[in-house]
Amino acid sequence: MAGSGVFAEIKDGDGVFRYYSDGEWKASASGKSVPIINPTTRNTHFKVQACTQEEVNKIVESARAAQKLWAKTPLWKRAELLHRAAAVLKEHKAPIAECLVKEIAKPAKDAVTEVVRSGDLISYCAEEGVRILGEGKFLVSDSFPGNERTKYCLTSKIPLGVVLAIPPFNYPVNLAVSKIAPALIAGNSIVLKPPTQGAVAALHMVHCFHLAGFPRGLISCVTGKGSEIGDFLTMHPGVSCISFTGGDTGIAISKKAGMIPLQMELGGKDACIILEDADLDLGAANVVKGGFSYSGQRCTAVKVVLVMESVADELVEKVNAKVRKLTVGAPEDDCDITPVVTESSANFIEGLVMDAKQKGATFCQEYRREGNLIWPLLLDHVRPDMRIAWEEPFGPVLPVIRINSVEEGIHHCNASNFGLQGCVFTRDINKAILISDAMETGTVQINSAPARGPDHFPFQGLKDSGIGSQGITNSINMMTKIKSTVINLPTPSYTMG
Ligand code: G3H
Repeated sequence: MAGSGVFAEIKDGDGVFRYYSDGEWKASASGKSVPIINPTTRNTHFKVQACTQEEVNKIVESARAAQKLWAKTPLWKRAELLHRAAAVLKEHKAPIAECLVKEIAKPAKDAVTEVVRSGDLISYCAEEGVRILGEGKFLVSDSFPGNERTKYCLTSKIPLGVVLAIPPFNYPVNLAVSKIAPALIAGNSIVLKPPTQGAVAALHMVHCFHLAGFPRGLISCVTGKGSEIGDFLTMHPGVSCISFTGGDTGIAISKKAGMIPLQMELGGKDACIILEDADLDLGAANVVKGGFSYSGQRCTAVKVVLVMESVADELVEKVNAKVRKLTVGAPEDDCDITPVVTESSANFIEGLVMDAKQKGATFCQEYRREGNLIWPLLLDHVRPDMRIAWEEPFGPVLPVIRINSVEEGIHHCNASNFGLQGCVFTRDINKAILISDAMETGTVQINSAPARGPDHFPFQGLKDSGIGSQGITNSINMMTKIKSTVINLPTPSYTMG
């Protein structure tokens, strides 16, 4: 059960989950809490503290103090602690996964996978960190015109300070550790602001770092209302870097944040282009996996299928056959399609579906919704005047646009404000490479659905899909800056030797 056993101290006597500050689990002085609604039952399932701005100030202050000491802690020791945290996290995968099931309706097996993947990410990060942070550069001055060999420059990577990590609801554990682990190995401290839905899973994860024995103040986790502490955190002068994953809020943050490095992964309208020569069974399997896993609530989900008219009927038939096999129901039963995260998300999805209906899209299945649960739906013959051709439903509803040329598909993909990932299905590798080059997205997958992982691969979005690049190595580099020390030698004597 959530908040019991080794996790007992993270919950107060009233059943409200505490926030984590200065190495201790605390109740907010506000005396207020924020409810977390179970998407399946639509009842309050958990409550977390509604922290105050004063509490945020204290957290940032102790994060700054702890970081100074942590930066001096030998790299191998930082790595050792991260390995320990990974082991503790994996050991407690069951209660954490249970939170994910209750808070964000993640199917039971996927919830466990998220926690295990997160443990692996932390360990990989520790390994990668000791390698890439363990080396610097040595430059000599006489390679630049006009210089003698009188200067030796030594460069190394140093931490930024306090990293503010803001993960999204769909991966509250994995996309938290993908920010926490690189920040820590690089010598930074962490302030985590988890999403409301997913906060309790994140608090459990933070407790695993606590159990692993990290120094006080180095890691904090603050919960509360965005309206009270959101801007206060992102505009806080003590924050040295923001790593955010989520929606439009990221654009607003980037406009308000100070002169600090930003890492942003925002939305996507990931296109799947299917050519005449594609393996249609492979294409259909990936359309279904890419479009409907976790009920389409992934930034990397296939969000529009652009299929050549000549093979469209066959592809749609194959996709429909697979959609019929998807199980729909409760996350506890490990169903493929589970309730979407909030009622307002379900209403938004419904709005896109109704717009497409009114404008004449072909419904391959009957539209069905009960509460937050929306049955999987493939919409064929979608046209560019329909909202769903451009907007991301973040739900189990997938539009198919029939195209008559590759150029038409690329044009649709590139006309989007988003540019996260895309994919192309063809047996012609040369054509695939040309299409990949033409698609304005951070990544193009050839003959597979979009995906972020494996977690050490670079992951980035163009246009409104983000700033900077993630993936373990890129995140470590992003959370450091270069420091140079230049040794100035006396003018060389050419008589020596
Ligand atoms: O929702 C955004 C995530 O970064 C997607 O990750 O491709 O592993 O599902 P994923």
